[in-house]
Amino acid sequence: SSDISDDIVWHEHSVDRALREKVLGQRGCVVWFTGLSGCGKSTVANALDVMLNRQGRATTLLDGDNVRHGLCAPPAVLASEHGEEFSQRFGLGFGAVDREENIRRIGSVAALMAGAGLITLTAFVSPYRKDRDRVRAIVNETGGDDFIEVFVDTPLEICESRDPKGLYKKARAGEIKNFTGISDPYESPESPEIRLDGGAGRSVVEMATEVAEYLKQHNRI
Ligand code: PPS
Repeated sequence: SSDISDDIVWHEHSVDRALREKVLGQRGCVVWFTGLSGCGKSTVANALDVMLNRQGRATTLLDGDNVRHGLCAPPAVLASEHGEEFSQRFGLGFGAVDREENIRRIGSVAALMAGAGLITLTAFVSPYRKDRDRVRAIVNETGGDDFIEVFVDTPLEICESRDPKGLYKKARAGEIKNFTGISDPYESPESPEIRLDGGAGRSVVEMATEVAEYLKQHNRI
């Protein structure tokens, strides 16, 4: 067959997931934060990471800042080191297909990290329902309900008034194309495990605590 995937054999490893989790004394999972730019997802995920780390849990945090510089770098970043063809093929921007690939790569990495027993926190806009649902399916393939979707539901007006990076202003001025919430869609989760009301004046710590409570109630921590 010409299909390369036929030649890739999925190896059973001698140290399986259960053995890795036994060492850590916990079960791996993915806590997937989604929401508009400026909704607070990275901030809440970071606060949760601190809480869990202080409780002695093995965690990791993936977000735009560390991922869009490496694993999912834009074409311009790849160009100098890898050349034009490479950067055009593998660099990622913000069109629908690029976001799909961004979330596919991140989802695969998150599933691997959960499989290593880590409580894996992710904070990406991830605006498309089908992309998030694909990650859910991959993470839950192993049989557990290990994908926990956290919708940080902050009204656009609030996100825009915060505008920490000045991106909404640029998007309104037409200087950034495909900006989520302004000139690009955001598809809200229909039944997230957790919905945080980011417009209710609650503190970051309160919201992170709500997620930690969920994890406790579901015997995850
Ligand atoms: S996505 O949709 O999940 O692939 O996006 P993500 O990897 O989370 O990257 C979002 C951050 O990139 C900045 N940025 C944009 N966001 C949305 N739309 C457009 N066009 C865009 N261009 C740049 C923005 O700062 C996002 O950061 P956060 O932390 O979400 O505010």
